[in-house]
Amino acid sequence: MSTFEFNKFAAAILLAGIIAMVSSFIAEELIKPTKLAQPAYVIAGVEAHPAAGGAAAPPAAELEPIGPLLAKANAAEGANVAKQCAACHTFDKGGPNRVGPNLFGVIGSVHGHVEGFAFSKVMEGMHDKKWDYEALNKFLANPKAYAPGTKMTFAGLRKAEQRADVIVFLRSKMDSPPPLP
Ligand code: HEC
Repeated sequence: MSTFEFNKFAAAILLAGIIAMVSSFIAEELIKPTKLAQPAYVIAGVEAHPAAGGAAAPPAAELEPIGPLLAKANAAEGANVAKQCAACHTFDKGGPNRVGPNLFGVIGSVHGHVEGFAFSKVMEGMHDKKWDYEALNKFLANPKAYAPGTKMTFAGLRKAEQRADVIVFLRSKMDSPPPLP
């Protein structure tokens, strides 16, 4: 093989390597977001307001009350559901903030409950409102409908049972859990 041919050969291998690297990088970038959130079509209750007229009220306003389901809910199941949240949240006391704030003790606390976390404007605007069970139910069913402009890019948990399970899981991550309704 002449030097020239050898160089062409080496250049071809180098090029192939670069193409492989770039395409695996692109593939990773494409795949990453789907690991974080549920598929966008799971947004709960979008079809719930066919003729509401005017500014759309949050579909979450029409959810069944979560209270009765909380009595039957299961924190261990909730821990399972919470794997979907763990990309962005930690739950234990003193845990770090990630993309989202640490969620220890969130039930009964104010909206935007972590000092020093950069909450969205809408969440800061609700700062005098408490996270009771129904507020969490509505937020988790459809974060964007509950808090338009929220930084929580999560489609929502469509199933009420899953929301109830994850809420009792959150309740297990508290110093003094409030009573169930
Ligand atoms: C893609 C990242 C992401 C995922 C997944 C996610 N969250 Fe969040 N979450 C956030 C961010 C960011 C905020 C702050 C929202 C804001 O400021 O508008 C937030 C805020 C919250 C809050 C309000 C905290 C407070 O102090 O007011 C609760 C409660 C919450 N998330 C629960 C959950 C639960 C439960 C799940 C799983 C079912 C979940 N989140 C999934 C990113 C995420």
